Amino acid sequence: MNVLIKNGHIIDPSLRIDGIGDILIEDGKIKEIRIQNIVPPPPHPLPQREGESLKIPYPSRGEGKGGGKDSGLRTIDATGLLVVPGLIDMHVHLREPGFEHKETIKSGTMAAIKSGFTTVCCMPNTFPVNDQASVTEFIIRKASQEGYCTVYPVGAITKGQRGEELAEIGTMRNEGCIAFSDDGRPVMNSLIMRRALEYSKAFDVPIISHCEDLTLSEDGVINEGIISATLGLKGIPDEAEQIMIFRDILLAELTGGKLHIAHVSTEGSVKLIREAKTKGINVTAETCPHYFSLTEEAVKGYDTNAKVNPPLRTKRDIEAIKEGLKDGTIDIIVTDHAPHHMDEKLREFDMAPFGISGFETALSLSLRLVEEGILSMSQLVKNMTLNPAIILNIPKGTLRQDTDADVTIIDVNREFKVESEKFVSKGKNTPFEGWLLKGCPVLTICKGKIYEW
Ligand code: DOR
Repeated sequence: MNVLIKNGHIIDPSLRIDGIGDILIEDGKIKEIRIQNIVPPPPHPLPQREGESLKIPYPSRGEGKGGGKDSGLRTIDATGLLVVPGLIDMHVHLREPGFEHKETIKSGTMAAIKSGFTTVCCMPNTFPVNDQASVTEFIIRKASQEGYCTVYPVGAITKGQRGEELAEIGTMRNEGCIAFSDDGRPVMNSLIMRRALEYSKAFDVPIISHCEDLTLSEDGVINEGIISATLGLKGIPDEAEQIMIFRDILLAELTGGKLHIAHVSTEGSVKLIREAKTKGINVTAETCPHYFSLTEEAVKGYDTNAKVNPPLRTKRDIEAIKEGLKDGTIDIIVTDHAPHHMDEKLREFDMAPFGISGFETALSLSLRLVEEGILSMSQLVKNMTLNPAIILNIPKGTLRQDTDADVTIIDVNREFKVESEKFVSKGKNTPFEGWLLKGCPVLTICKGKIYEW
């Protein structure tokens, strides 16, 4: 079915569009965009393109908000809604193969679509680990059979994520891995990290670094500070993250490799990345909504749903992360969607696994940055579309003509209460339970296929 989205507020940083207009989708591809009115410029104005309203090329029946249907063309009235390229989440855990009790490719991608994401990159800490082409091939096949959105696998840097021997990066790259990471576990051996970065240059793929000095974080479970002391829980100091970021930046400088820093959580990390970028080192960075929405206070009461790695930090870190997003030191927002089974999270704090089920609160938490005046709407959209597409070098995150019709339509005013039992994800592990949030996707189009709720 072809689709005409009418009168939406279209923001596409890749095309420098920010205005009211229409989008025509034909055969699963973007056919045409027309901008009628330019929206008053945001704080960081972008050049605009103007055009007329799209002439409907087919007879359209049953128009209305949420859309009317007929056999040839469906018209969606997007008046008052935001229309952006399908969101990209380049850091998620889909858990399949091996941990299907936590999530599957099917349930995870369905949750992604509901959350406005049309492209996700899944981390390799599955069982078996995605450290060889046969596992990569399995994930891609399963995603094409059962997935709701586009899935790009991230391959492991080392065999079994053990940090001892490089995995077959070239073969996995050919099979479809678009980045490499030992996420969940850092590569402690600097020579192996150096080699990985050399490969990243040769294959033009990013190395996503989970920065944690294990000798320093040891068995820590939350941020090191007064709260860890009060609760009697072992703390993880900021330096555990920063030491590794510093090392990896030095190695990126040495090798010219493509380094991407995962889930930035501290003020010191933001400073290190900012300095590296100023020096022209090839480094990019991400953070997650929980790192700019929650402090370590969330673990008071031993709430294992707030146990995440790296840990939630302090108000000061939140301010620095927001500043980093504002000035572009941090390039993108990802979820680090880490679903776990309730039985696992119900264990004693020390024993419970790290991780937050992040898809279904990500966009609304991120929209708060716009409400607070930290980011303009187009900066936020850029962080969740164009920037990850550039880092990964994929033809996504754009409404450019003839690309896959991946579009997210957002009602920025729709309010909802976070109720994890209603999550589409199998992972109900959220520290945002009961929060009242504003702004959510109302319709997601992936390769021309429409999903709405
Ligand atoms: O909290 C986390 N959970 N951090 C990670 O790095 C891994 C993830 C997981 O796989 O559960």
